[in-house]
Amino acid sequence: IVAAFQPKLLAGKRVLLTAGPTFEPIDPVRGITNLSSGKMGFAIARAAREAGAQVTLVAGPTALPTPYGVSRIDVQTAQQMHDAVLAQVGDKDIFVAVAAVADWRVVGASEQKLKKTAAGAPPQLQLEPNPDILATVAALPNRPYCVGFAAESENLAQYGEEKRQRKNVPLLIGNIGHQTFGRDDNELILFEDSGQTTLARATKQELARQLVAAIARRI
Ligand code: CTP
Ligand code: CA
Repeated sequence: IVAAFQPKLLAGKRVLLTAGPTFEPIDPVRGITNLSSGKMGFAIARAAREAGAQVTLVAGPTALPTPYGVSRIDVQTAQQMHDAVLAQVGDKDIFVAVAAVADWRVVGASEQKLKKTAAGAPPQLQLEPNPDILATVAALPNRPYCVGFAAESENLAQYGEEKRQRKNVPLLIGNIGHQTFGRDDNELILFEDSGQTTLARATKQELARQLVAAIARRI
């Protein structure tokens, strides 16, 4: 009911989002991932749809249901997320990168489950960097309006603005990792050229609505 009454601030806009963690395989039964639940990204996808946008959500592994009316593409690895985003971004007006993308992947993941050996030496995992999806989209000649996220453990006010400038995006949303991962509420800081704005602690769905309104005002 509440959904139907949201103002149509993004009517006619096409919005692409990433959400959730990525999963980088080590072998067929193990991998490297992180604590992102996907809740914030899914909440923004829902809020954007309620605001009248056509929404595409590229999601890493999560247990969350697809928000009503949102078209969803499931991926596992950062490389798959990158490829899905680049295949989708062409006609989009807004890109919101909420996913906690693994920065590194395992070189030469094993086709067989790694076994403990009698000698007992643990496997030596070698890592290589994943592509930076947000930076790639932000560097496109015809780029959509790009919004980044940052989960930090400390120094958010400084790291957030530095990251926004490094990624070359007009808007970056900062939060503190242990105050958000898996929770249903959060507290956000918006970083942009004109300075920083705090969105006080609220449910992720309420914050998502405020963020969608903030994005709509800026495009
Ligand atoms: N991001 C991305 N692709 C990556 C890494 C990050 O699209 N390979 C996006 C995230 O979705 C987020 C933003 O970039 O919107 C910032 O992610 P973050 O991990 O905080 O930034 P990094 O540049 O990876 O810096 P850090 O060393 O703090 O992890
Ligand atoms: Ca990172």
